[in-house]
Amino acid sequence: MIEAQGLEKTYRLGGREVRALRGVDLRLDRGEFAFVLGPSGSGKSTLLHLLGALDRPSSGKLLLDGRETARMTDAELTDFRRRHVGFIFQSFNLLPNLTALDNVLVPSLPRGISAEARRRAAELLERVGLAERLDHRPNELSGGEQQRVAVARALFKQPMLVLADEPTGELDHDTGREVFGYLRALNAERQTTFVVVTHDTTYQRPEDTVYRIRDGRIVERTSSTPAGAGTGAGREAAAGAEATLVPASASVRLVP
Ligand SMILES: Nc1ncnc2c1ncn2[C@@H]1O[C@H](COP(=O)(O)OP(=O)(O)OP(=O)(O)O)[C@@H](O)[C@H]1O
Ligand SMILES: [Mg+2]
Repeated sequence: MIEAQGLEKTYRLGGREVRALRGVDLRLDRGEFAFVLGPSGSGKSTLLHLLGALDRPSSGKLLLDGRETARMTDAELTDFRRRHVGFIFQSFNLLPNLTALDNVLVPSLPRGISAEARRRAAELLERVGLAERLDHRPNELSGGEQQRVAVARALFKQPMLVLADEPTGELDHDTGREVFGYLRALNAERQTTFVVVTHDTTYQRPEDTVYRIRDGRIVERTSSTPAGAGTGAGREAAAGAEATLVPASASVRLVP
């Protein structure tokens, strides 16, 4: 579904070059749940931006749903992103003048907001524990609550790909587990593909794919399925297990 080949990103800032990504190869299948781990500054956010077509690579190839992004116009990339990608950023990017409910509805503003859309947005906010906060603006919400609004907003359009950058960074562990519960449920119900950057590895499950990145390169990939063989993760989950979470002690099975 998503394939990156030799992806590089070099930022140019005041005559200096920062090589944020130095040749990343990866392939993500439908229903795959992938984590990206790595030290600060290693290129994790940069990678998510490229995978979500928020930015173009300096070199290398990126295929979204079989289409090479280099051959797509900016308008086509924007359209792809709007339709298919949900972002949960490190900074929540909530609009300060809008209520929690309206922030969730923002992605559907261009199409007009139906009563059904409002109902679904309210239901999503209830699922992330904010039933009593629908009419609060971001400055009337705690950091963790704002993060949960951002999660609900990303999930609202039922994207095929969710890119999450530290989605639980502001949350206590119990709330973080709940939020991961919603992400897992969506992964199981809709075969949504996830790429999650996190420092907290206790949310991982054995069937997840884990990429370790250092200095702009993937230095390790662990998964119970070989790269490109199709993932069993979403299907397994869909076949029965609902959004119960692994115990915090569960560790990643390392199968080369
Ligand atoms: N817009 C930019 N212009 C110039 N340099 C940038 C830009 N964005 C990121 N960088 C640099 O690129 C490198 C990778 O940044 P990136 O944000 O991808 O790291 P990260 O792995 O997400 O780190 P963190 O865990 O701290 O969020 C860093 O050295 C950073 O300073
Ligand atoms: Mg980052």
